[in-house]
Amino acid sequence: VRKLSEFSYDPFSPEAMADPYPAYRVLREEHPFYRLPEYGAWAVSRFADVHEILSDQEGRYTTTEKNVPLGRWELVVGNGGTPPPPQLEPLPMFSFLASPEHEQIRSLAVPPLRPRSAASLEPFVRELVGARLDELLGQGEFDLTRDYGAIVSAGVMCRVWGLPPERAARVRDLINLAGGRPDGEQSMDGAEASAELIGMLAEVVAERRAAGADGELPGVDRLIKAEVDGRPLSDEEVATQVFAIVFGGTETVPKVVAHGLMELWRHPDQLAAVRAGDLAENSRVAFEEMLRFCAPAQWFMRTATADTVVSGQEIARGDRLILLLASANRDEREFEAPERFRWDRPIERHLAFGHGGLFCIGVHVARLEGRILVEEFLRRAPAYEIDLARAERPASSFQLGYAAMPVAVG
Ligand code: HEM
Repeated sequence: VRKLSEFSYDPFSPEAMADPYPAYRVLREEHPFYRLPEYGAWAVSRFADVHEILSDQEGRYTTTEKNVPLGRWELVVGNGGTPPPPQLEPLPMFSFLASPEHEQIRSLAVPPLRPRSAASLEPFVRELVGARLDELLGQGEFDLTRDYGAIVSAGVMCRVWGLPPERAARVRDLINLAGGRPDGEQSMDGAEASAELIGMLAEVVAERRAAGADGELPGVDRLIKAEVDGRPLSDEEVATQVFAIVFGGTETVPKVVAHGLMELWRHPDQLAAVRAGDLAENSRVAFEEMLRFCAPAQWFMRTATADTVVSGQEIARGDRLILLLASANRDEREFEAPERFRWDRPIERHLAFGHGGLFCIGVHVARLEGRILVEEFLRRAPAYEIDLARAERPASSFQLGYAAMPVAVG
């Protein structure tokens, strides 16, 4: 029998970075608010609590310390009980700002990602997916994450943000480096990769500015013309906003799709059921369970701006909240048999895209790409075998997803 005192959780421990799911089970059951004193943080693991914190509309929590996981050493340094004010010069990614600048930049950048704009991308996405499959199916074996989904997602981001289409593979590689957290910290390679991509995007911004930024490339042009905090943004600052979106838009969908297609392969009855009905509709339904079950981001962060209480737990001003979305999406209080993949489970809500003010800005593009990637693959690959032994899910304190998923198609 495991004694309570033997349990410990640290998002940066090798065990948690390789497979945190067993710990999440214990956290949800026994320590829904788990204190991590060395990081001044609470790990929050239940769906209802994460949902409540993300629903806050009174500014009780901020992301001025960042929403993406800080590295262990940044957490150890602490904030002295006071979250920092937003940095306004140079302007960081909009997710790290506060009201009203966060909402201002978000609404300037969002037009190409709105439902109607996303829907208008469908013919382009189908063509891109079709062209990828023409090439890959001929090879017989390929990698579902790297060669299929990631090239499509990066290709869509190139189109939306004005990069030449032939840059898609480089964008994919840079994003993978930038998102890796092999030792719980962003590596030098990761920082260099971010800088290279921001540089690439800044060239587009400079070209648009020189051409008058007349609205042809809506997200970029509106950011160029805007005044934030009483001044226009530099090329690099605009590029940094676009980088945040290109990052979100390239990192996640491919890993969800590759993992999801692996789950279907692992459950042949489910694969047969998806294939049996309306494939387009079934792919849409299955992608939603793939989001719940396979979304790689483990946690996002908030910092309390005031003393508060959540589900009876006192939280002090300055406390960090490690919001374990991947645990919340497996909470048995919210989902029946949550640790089982079931392609057609009824899902009223999940937290794969977050919730509230930072709800994923790319949700419509993500759902569009996801369902088309699943549908077209299943339509054109009558049978497939995953080589699970060669699949790679690199340890990470942030994005724990399948970076490699070899498949053979028949
Ligand atoms: C399956 C795919 C995706 C998943 C699971 C996902 C997940 C998330 C989550 C959980 C958040 C909230 C973070 C927080 O609350 O701190 C978020 C925000 C965000 N996502 Fe996504 N995302 C996906 C696809 C995309 C795509 C396609 C784009 C861009 C086209 C994108 C861009 C962003 C951006 C820029 C934010 C920050 C929004 C803000 O600060 O207001 N994501 N995403």
